[in-house]
Amino acid sequence: MNPLFVANWKMHKTIGEATAYAHRFGALAADLPGADLVLAPPFTALEAVARALRGTGVEVAGQDLYFEPQGAYTGEVSAAMLLDAGCRLVIIGHSERRRLFGETDQDSARKVRSALAAGLTPILCVGETLEEREGGRTRAVVERQLAAVLSGLRLGASDRMVVAYEPVWAIGTGRHATPEQAVEVHRTVRRALSRELGAAEQSIRILYGGSVSPENIGDLTAAPEIQGALVGGASLEAEKFAELVRRGLAARPRKGR
Ligand code: PGA
Repeated sequence: MNPLFVANWKMHKTIGEATAYAHRFGALAADLPGADLVLAPPFTALEAVARALRGTGVEVAGQDLYFEPQGAYTGEVSAAMLLDAGCRLVIIGHSERRRLFGETDQDSARKVRSALAAGLTPILCVGETLEEREGGRTRAVVERQLAAVLSGLRLGASDRMVVAYEPVWAIGTGRHATPEQAVEVHRTVRRALSRELGAAEQSIRILYGGSVSPENIGDLTAAPEIQGALVGGASLEAEKFAELVRRGLAARPRKGR
């Protein structure tokens, strides 16, 4: 499977800025064979970005959704609406949603089910806070977050899912996890996926996120356990994000090694 690189723009870019980026990045993507590429703009720019990327192979993701199909939920957007705007994927359970907007493991579980039911690929984010890491609870926290979503989940043959390990202390701080720290948690995630989903686990890529940059991506993607990256700050300029992907691809272990 190709490594996957997702640009999470968070609350950045007007429609005009997003469209200009998408045209530029769509052209750069032609020189990045072997990578699966996704842009996650804010809701307002989804449709324009999806249109600008048509024919480039670069896909579009929402940054969140609400699990109900429709109704009186002011401010919310459903899975079907994301699909309608041109999305194929959606980020779920980002730590900023959990920390700033009070989202729970159960919310993530319902959102993942709603995404899958609509045919969207959920990118489920998990990760520990600094306090949890220092208290030796990283593994327990990540296992709890995964179990809440995975228990009872059945992936059909056409269902796709991605997991992103994003230590909260590494997001936007300039302090990324070392490859050793990331690999250890990626193995925990892989075991949990295998336990809960059986063979369907093999179709799931596990990304690392948290202060990923062109400077450190190579050390991360050199590990076979790390199958791509979810990138915030370093994805806001098209050239920089393309350079990050280029370096991430170049460091991938060769098949059979
Ligand atoms: P960052 O954000 O790359 O700016 O640390 C990553 C994320 O929140 O997905």
